[in-house]
Amino acid sequence: IMDGNGRWGVKNKNSRNAGHKAGLNTVEKIIKESLKQKIKFLTLYAFSTENWKRPKREVNYLFNLLENFLRNRIEELHKQNIRLKIIGTKNNSKKLNNLLNLSEKKTSKNTKLQINLALNYGSKSELINAFKKLKQENDTITEQKVEKYLETKNIPDPEILIRTGNTKRL
Ligand code: FPP
Repeated sequence: IMDGNGRWGVKNKNSRNAGHKAGLNTVEKIIKESLKQKIKFLTLYAFSTENWKRPKREVNYLFNLLENFLRNRIEELHKQNIRLKIIGTKNNSKKLNNLLNLSEKKTSKNTKLQINLALNYGSKSELINAFKKLKQENDTITEQKVEKYLETKNIPDPEILIRTGNTKRL
């Protein structure tokens, strides 16, 4: 969960947006480290439904950062066998949606690391959509059936591992 970018920016560069730019550099470092540590799934909460309440200047800046990041980096992510998956409702501009769809499609067969990019994502709206589909299909409500309609269906439930010599599961 990305947090504190804005505050860091104000404190150090007198600008929230400068904090977002620096935050994206940190994301790149985290991607590199995830590959090194052989982590399989990395979920980044990039833009929540609440973030729409932020000043327009900041919202535009964030979407520009995202767009430039994908334009400049998707080829490299693909070469590194990284899969990009967007979770959340795609009510963005047509231009951004096309770029998101293209990026997902291009990397869909990649297997080293899956990056889930949460954009306009909310777990409750994900559940509502799943139940709507279940209702449409007149399907019974079971764990497997609900999972079938979740956007996060192929993402395993988190496991926190602490490596202290012995590997312990929390
Ligand atoms: C968290 O700090 C930052 C965000 C919610 C926005 C992050 C989004 C980007 C950097 C756009 C591109 C993203 C990717 C991954 C390609 P905050 O703004 O909540 O900081 P604050 O808590 O100090 O207000």
